[in-house]
Amino acid sequence: MDWIIHVSQLLYLVAAILFMMGIKRLGSPSTARKGNQLASLGMLLGVIVTLFDRQIVQFELILAGVVIGSLIGAVLAKKVQMTAMPELVAVFNGFGGGASALVAWGEFSRGMAMAGEMAGQVSGQMTVQGVPAVFGVQELASIGLSIAIGSITFTGSLIAFGKLKGILPGGRVALPGQNIINLVLTAGVLGLIGWFVMDPTNSTVFWVIFGVTLLIGLMTVLPIGGADMPVVISLLNSYSGIAASMAGFVLGNNLLIISGALVGAAGLILTNIMCQAMNRSLVSVLFGSFGGGDDAGAGASGGDRSVLETYAEDLAIQCRYAERVVIVPGYGLAVAQAQHVLKEAASLMEDFGVDVRYGIHPVAGRMPGHMNVLLAEADVPYDQLYDMEEINPQFAKTDIVLIIGANDVVNPAAKTSPGSPIYGMPILNVDEAKMTVVFKRSLSPGYAGIDNDLFYADNNRMFFGDAKKSLQGLVNALKELE
Ligand code: TAP
Repeated sequence: MDWIIHVSQLLYLVAAILFMMGIKRLGSPSTARKGNQLASLGMLLGVIVTLFDRQIVQFELILAGVVIGSLIGAVLAKKVQMTAMPELVAVFNGFGGGASALVAWGEFSRGMAMAGEMAGQVSGQMTVQGVPAVFGVQELASIGLSIAIGSITFTGSLIAFGKLKGILPGGRVALPGQNIINLVLTAGVLGLIGWFVMDPTNSTVFWVIFGVTLLIGLMTVLPIGGADMPVVISLLNSYSGIAASMAGFVLGNNLLIISGALVGAAGLILTNIMCQAMNRSLVSVLFGSFGGGDDAGAGASGGDRSVLETYAEDLAIQCRYAERVVIVPGYGLAVAQAQHVLKEAASLMEDFGVDVRYGIHPVAGRMPGHMNVLLAEADVPYDQLYDMEEINPQFAKTDIVLIIGANDVVNPAAKTSPGSPIYGMPILNVDEAKMTVVFKRSLSPGYAGIDNDLFYADNNRMFFGDAKKSLQGLVNALKELE
C-alpha cells in the first residue's frame, strides 16, 4: 500500500533529523547526554519502522537478539575502564563493518536465488540472464563495496583491539615492502569488484574479494604503531559507516544510507581533528610508524640535568595563597583514576578563594574527549573547562599550573626543537605561568617517547608518585590549612 511506504519514508526522515540533532549536541559536554538520547531515539524509531515496513515475521528471533545484545552491551559499557574505551570502540567498529558485509552477502545470496528461479535453473546452475531482473549495476557495485569495506573494517578493528589490549605487539609488524603490497592488493580488489559487477554468477570472484579484503584489513593495521591506534580506530569508525551506507544501497533503505554516511563523515572529521592536534598527516599515521603504545621505557633520560621536587605540605601553602590555579589533566590522571580526589583538591582551593580552571588539550589522554568525560565523572563544572585556544592566553596571568599525568601536551619541544617528533604540535603554553608542578611517577616520557625540558625549568617542581596518592596528600594538607 502506497500510504504505508510514504509514512515509513517520512518516519525515516524524522529519524535522520534526530541523528543530526544528536550529533550536533555531542559537540559540547553540557549537551552531549541529551544528544546521545536523541540519536538513540532516532535509532529506535528507525528499527521499529524497518520491522513494520518490511513486514518482518520472525519477531521472536529479533527480540531475542535485542535482549541478548542489549545485555552484553550494558555489561560491557558498565565494566569498561575509561582508559580501555578505545578498545571497546574498536570492537564495535569491527562488528559494525562485519555486519554490513554479512548483510550484503545475505542480500546477494537471496537475490541470486530469486534470479535462479526467474531464469530457470540449468542443471542446478544459476544463469546470468536472470541477474539483471534482480540486481542493477548500482546494487552489484554496492554489494562488492560493502563486502570489501566491511571486511577491511572487521579484521582491521580486531588487530587494533589486539594491539591496544597488548595481545599483539604494539610496534610495527610488517613484511618488507608492506605498503606497496597493500597498494597492489587494494588496486586488485577494485578490479575484482569491477569483474564481479560484470559477472556476478562467478562465485570464485565473490569469495576472492571477501578473502583478500579480510587480509587487507590485517595487513594495513598490523604495521601501525600501537600509539597511533586511536587515530586508526577513528578512521575504521568512518569505514564502518561507509560500509553501512553501502549496505543501505543494497537493501534500498534510505535511513541506513543516511546514518552510514553520517558515521562515515563524522569519523573522517574526527580523524582529521586528531591528526591536526598531533601535527601529523594521515599518510604518516597509516604508512609511518610512531610510538609503540608503551608509556614507560625508551628516551627516559634527562642526561645529568637535575629537577626540583615539591611535596604536599609546601604545595598546599602555595595553592592556598594563589589567585589563579590552572589544572592540566593528561593520560596519567586516567590511569591513576584520580579525577575524584582532584575535584576534591580543586574544591578546597576554591573555598580559599582561588580561581580554579582546567585547560584541556584536544589529544590529552588516549581518545578525543577523554579528559572531558573523566572530569565530568567527578562532577567538575563544565564552565571551568577551557579548550587549548581559550586557556593559552591565560597562562601568563596564572600563579600555579598543576599538570596531572600529562606530558607531551605541555612539552615545549613542540615549539623549540625542529628535530623533535612532536615539533609543530600545538601545546598548552604552561611555561608562561609563574610556576608549574608536574605530578607523575618518574621522569619517563609519555606517548611520544621523548624527554620534556619543562621538568628541568627553574620555575617547575616535580611531585613524584602516583597521581591519586599525591593528590590525596595535597587534599589532606589543604584540609590542615582550613
Ligand atoms: P602522555 O604524554 O602519554 O603522558 C602521560 C604521563 O602520565 C606519562 O608521562 C606518565 O609518566 C604519567 N602517568 C602514567 N600513569 C600515572 C600515574 N598512575 N600517576 C601519575 N602519572 C602517571 O599523555 P598526555 O600528555 O595526555 O598526551 C597524550 C598523548 O597521546 C599525546 O602525545 C597525543 O598525541 C597522544 N594521542 C592522543 C590521542 C587522543 S585523541 N587523545 C590519540 C592518539 C595519540 P610516569 O610513567 O612517569 O608516571
